[in-house]
Amino acid sequence: MMLSNKTIVLGVTGSIAAYKAAEIASQLTQAGARVNVVMTREAVEFVSPVTFRAISGRPVVTEMFDLASEYSIEHVSLAAAADIVAVAPATANVIAKLAAGIADDMLCCTVLATRAPVLIAPAMEARMYMNQVTQENLEKLKARGFVIVGPGAGWLASGKEGLGRLADTSDIIDSICQMLGKGSGLAGKRIVVTAGGTQEPVDPVRYIGNRSSGKMGYALAEAARDRGASVLLITAPATTTEPAGVDVTRVGTAQEMCEAVENATPGADALIMAAAVADYRPARKLEEKIKKTEAGLTLELECTPDILSAVRGSIVRVGFAAESSNLVENAKEKLQRKGLDLIVANDVTAPDSGFGADTNRVTVIDREGRVDSLPLLSKRQVAEKVLDRVAELLAGAER
Ligand SMILES: Cc1cc2nc3c(=O)[nH]c(=O)nc-3n(C[C@H](O)[C@H](O)[C@H](O)COP(=O)(O)O)c2cc1C
Repeated sequence: MMLSNKTIVLGVTGSIAAYKAAEIASQLTQAGARVNVVMTREAVEFVSPVTFRAISGRPVVTEMFDLASEYSIEHVSLAAAADIVAVAPATANVIAKLAAGIADDMLCCTVLATRAPVLIAPAMEARMYMNQVTQENLEKLKARGFVIVGPGAGWLASGKEGLGRLADTSDIIDSICQMLGKGSGLAGKRIVVTAGGTQEPVDPVRYIGNRSSGKMGYALAEAARDRGASVLLITAPATTTEPAGVDVTRVGTAQEMCEAVENATPGADALIMAAAVADYRPARKLEEKIKKTEAGLTLELECTPDILSAVRGSIVRVGFAAESSNLVENAKEKLQRKGLDLIVANDVTAPDSGFGADTNRVTVIDREGRVDSLPLLSKRQVAEKVLDRVAELLAGAER
């Protein structure tokens, strides 16, 4: 997972939204990050450092000259240890100080001294935010490579509606993951992921579908996004929430998925096909609902189009194979037949694995015939393993 073992400085400033930083600290800590909270003196007026101390399980810095703090001896030690510095919420005041290079508190010192990427999540009254000086200060920070997240529009503490709300915790954490992901071999790459289960209409109300939940494909899209890739998720119907921060094209049938892939792949670096695409569809789609008769019903089915044959150009191709027997042999045959670089095979009859499950036990096979049988992992962990291999293949293609 992108956040585990990462050191994150979370700067909290004197905004009414400071209480929301407690949730950010909590989620980062739960995801395995070391969260070093640095609070301005004004932030302490809003939320007690005790809250952050308890949530992060780590010392909280509030004073520059606190000799009891393990960090204050060297005022840049926090900056040096950080993988990322996130200031959330960031007041107009702190934004102005950072734009001017003022370092009169521990947070500003840390931001000035760090080489780590810096995220700023502004939170303030709409008029403060729209003020020309604040806008100019944010532009200066952007020009220096700071990532500005939000603010959002909505209810403000003044009781008015407007722009200035701290961005949602999930958006801030997504951005942190993306920023940490740069350097993972996929930054700036264009990755197309297919997901979900296609539905082939029989008549206006019925279709032939499958049990795909979309979880595996969505986990791949999220993990690729977090590694800094630009991701297009082409999704057939799924029961999972679509990930934020990726482009989404929704399709229904295998034919629509084929067309979407054909449009999306020129210029893409990798195509990962985790969708469960129907092999067969009704030969005729009836315009009228089929009436029940005593005679029973025979449906004539025809093959759906082969999506891979619609893919142009040199692009890393990863397929999935859901098998119920002879896993490795069947997957190897599919890898050869479809000209894939990598195939991820899963035994859909294994417990806690395959359609609908949160976990998956897969075997990854490459063109050289290397067979890597992974243990039961979460779908996100499987996604990370697959993306490690995609990054290797892309690095190999560049050499
Ligand atoms: C109740 C209250 C709420 C405030 N909320 C905000 C806010 O959301 N955003 C902001 O930029 N300033 C806000 N301020 C003003 C800051 O607290 C003030 O500018 C302070 O100097 C910021 O200090 P700091 O940037 O060092 O944390 C608020 C002030 C008060 C009294």
